[in-house]
Amino acid sequence: MAKKRWSYVDIPILEGKVSLITGANSGLGLQATHFLSDKGAEIVMAVRNVEKGEKAATDILRRSPSARLSVIQANLADLQSIQRLSRQFLEQYKRLDGLINNAGIMANPYQLTKDGFEMQFGTNHLGHFALTGLLMPVIRNTPGARVVTMSSSYHEGGTIDFANLDGRNGYDGMKVYKQSKLANLLFAIELQRRFVKNGLDALSIGAYPGYSRTSLHLKGPEMEGSSLRLMLSKLLYVLFAQSAEMGVLPMLYAAVSPDVKGGDYIGPSSFSGMRGYPTLAQASKLARDKQLSRRLWEVSEQLTQIRYL
Ligand SMILES: NC(=O)c1ccc[n+]([C@@H]2O[C@H](COP(=O)([O-])OP(=O)(O)OC[C@H]3O[C@@H](n4cnc5c(N)ncnc54)[C@H](OP(=O)(O)O)[C@@H]3O)[C@@H](O)[C@H]2O)c1
Repeated sequence: MAKKRWSYVDIPILEGKVSLITGANSGLGLQATHFLSDKGAEIVMAVRNVEKGEKAATDILRRSPSARLSVIQANLADLQSIQRLSRQFLEQYKRLDGLINNAGIMANPYQLTKDGFEMQFGTNHLGHFALTGLLMPVIRNTPGARVVTMSSSYHEGGTIDFANLDGRNGYDGMKVYKQSKLANLLFAIELQRRFVKNGLDALSIGAYPGYSRTSLHLKGPEMEGSSLRLMLSKLLYVLFAQSAEMGVLPMLYAAVSPDVKGGDYIGPSSFSGMRGYPTLAQASKLARDKQLSRRLWEVSEQLTQIRYL
């Protein structure tokens, strides 16, 4: 870490660079779109709802009229939709400097994706696994390309239940969220191993935003239940959650800082990683387990039918 309080002002000028951000219409994805486009990058906003995406783009353009944004529809819970997005991207763009695997859902009621995957594992992990794999041709052709995958401190409590990945033998929303966030980090670290093994000039980095004020929490299970529990959750949220402007910094540091190394995991520096400026964080022992990441990779290839390197 070269600088203790790395922030928006430290993002370099990004003229000529292209980033694709999933979930770019709200929360951290929207904030990242705003900050990176402010610095001159062209941003492809991958959103599942085009109306929301266009509205988000219009809001940014009102504040930053020179921003270069395009909105592409993509549902990470649908492999065909991911294929359409990557086809469109590969047709239109010759470079991809930053792929930001950001979109996510947390602890929703049990549901399956279009392809029959459990919804959280399918959206948070398999969707991004497929997208990154399909975009490999342009990642390979962009010197210094970076893939940033959003995990969470919840990855620490996660395990990968290979026998019940589709949740048909029992479903606990929060347990499965932790599983999906562990999968995100296993993927980020394993992708870096594969970049090195195949001699690619690209970096894969994991990041997490601490406790950040976005709609993820407002839609999550912590805002349900008895009135006392709800009051406590709201109080914690108001007192401790940091703004999206702060929460997005680890992701952006991972995406553009020259001090980052492939396989790093970046998160906030204070309050046990809940708030603060970006710093190098500790991935759990399980997240660094080579055997586990290889097994997850193979299973992810089988499920998505996407082969990488
Ligand atoms: N906020 C935190 O404190 C926190 C903490 C740890 C990790 N994270 C991680 O940070 C990332 C961003 O979350 P956030 O806090 O910014 O939450 P958010 O405001 O709820 O944003 C999530 C984004 O993901 C999109 N999305 C959800 N399902 C999708 C799908 N099937 N296909 C395409 N897009 C989909 C949402 O689109 P719609 O608007 O259409 O729903 C939205 O744009 C997530 O990976 C999350 O796990 C957040």
